[in-house]
Amino acid sequence: DFYDFGLIGLGVMGRNFILNVADNNFKALGYDLDDEKVNALIEEGGNSDRVNATTELSEFTQGLSHPRKIMLLVPAGKIVDQVIEDLLPHLDEGDIIIDGGNSFFTDTDRREEYLQSKGINFFGSGVSGGAKGARRGPSIMPGGNREAYQHVKPIFEAVAAKYKGEPCVAYLGPKSAGNYVKMVHNGIEYAMMQLTSEIYDVLKKGAGLSNEELHEVYSKWNKGRLQSFLVEITAEIFEQKDDLTDGYLVDAILDKAKQKGTGKWTSQNAMDLGIPIPTIDVAVSMREISALKEERVNAESVYPKSEIESRPKDELIVEAENALYFSFIMAYAQGLHQLANASKEYDYDLNLSEIAKIWRAGCIIRAELLADISEAYTALPELDSILISPIFVSKIKETLGGTKKLLTFGMNNGIPLPGVANSLNYFYAYTSGRLPLNLIQAQRDHFGSHTYERLDRDGVFHTEWEA
Ligand code: 6PG
Repeated sequence: DFYDFGLIGLGVMGRNFILNVADNNFKALGYDLDDEKVNALIEEGGNSDRVNATTELSEFTQGLSHPRKIMLLVPAGKIVDQVIEDLLPHLDEGDIIIDGGNSFFTDTDRREEYLQSKGINFFGSGVSGGAKGARRGPSIMPGGNREAYQHVKPIFEAVAAKYKGEPCVAYLGPKSAGNYVKMVHNGIEYAMMQLTSEIYDVLKKGAGLSNEELHEVYSKWNKGRLQSFLVEITAEIFEQKDDLTDGYLVDAILDKAKQKGTGKWTSQNAMDLGIPIPTIDVAVSMREISALKEERVNAESVYPKSEIESRPKDELIVEAENALYFSFIMAYAQGLHQLANASKEYDYDLNLSEIAKIWRAGCIIRAELLADISEAYTALPELDSILISPIFVSKIKETLGGTKKLLTFGMNNGIPLPGVANSLNYFYAYTSGRLPLNLIQAQRDHFGSHTYERLDRDGVFHTEWEA
């Protein structure tokens, strides 16, 4: 009897994913070089005859039904190429390899082309939701050959998270479409994490909220329009006591945020496309600034912080809620704007409404807001930006006042709010019919004869600037 699905890489994600496949009545076979991981899986899935694992590659590939469906959950980079090379001699034409890691999208294009020449279908497929998501239902973002996807579809639809019964997985497009969408998902993830962190800072410094109070505030927000996975876990984080001291764990954690690259790639590629995503960019920059801990401590001694004006709690909480909601909208708007342009540039033919739908559950950026976003794109698939969607106009107008007040307070009191600031500036700039960049064109022409265009007539102009 053959196994329906094969999984290579039995780390935490792989083990959880394979158990999820088995829970859904498919037979799944795992492979890993590490005996311990293989044994751990057999033990955990042991009482089911639907899960098994091996350290023998030929036993693994011979155990799978045709066409073979083999998912890799291994670290992005050279290991993916290595695993593919190891697998190739054991595969037959029409077999399917799915890369479930955060591979860089151009690597996926290269691998897809290479494997196509060998008759193998390759899917770059983002998987979001961490270990719990892999076990109970992740959001899955596959890209590759549309026909071959039909073989994978029943399994992915069964294991994916469900939003009101709808599976959070869809065929997204050819080539690296899936990895690209997952990359931008992570860019938005960085922005939302930065925003929730700076709002925490302003509430703590400006109104002296304790961890218990922060827990209450974020929990309450999570029941309203800010409902989202990141707000939910943030509320939980404030409750967590430290095992090593009497205090709360959050206060003991070093304020240096690490990164594995997906947020940075989102910003780099947005620059290549010429699409502004300043809320995401600054979220990457803030991880970089956070890493400069020693320099920051030193610089603080040069510019000691002055006392922060104290604000009434209720007032500041309302402003903070407005600013967070407003800025979340800007982060999604920028990420989706990037996706719309990447879709044209790389011929992905992305369906933004569908993407917002599969982000509604399972993934790290899942949020109530995504239901509105998918509706906005269903109503107007060619929408330039959700900012001009009728669904969003009133939501934005409603939160603008609070956002401005919060930002003004932060700026007057030396509390960095770069995510909120970039969101508000992005909004002001994107909604300005006339920007002062006519002056930049004048400067370029003045010092370097770079020419300019005019508002009132066609053509390209150059002026011999006087003096
Ligand atoms: C997800 C996450 C995940 C990512 C982590 C860590 O959707 O489940 O995006 O894929 O690896 O968030 O990313 P950083 O280490 O770069 O913060």
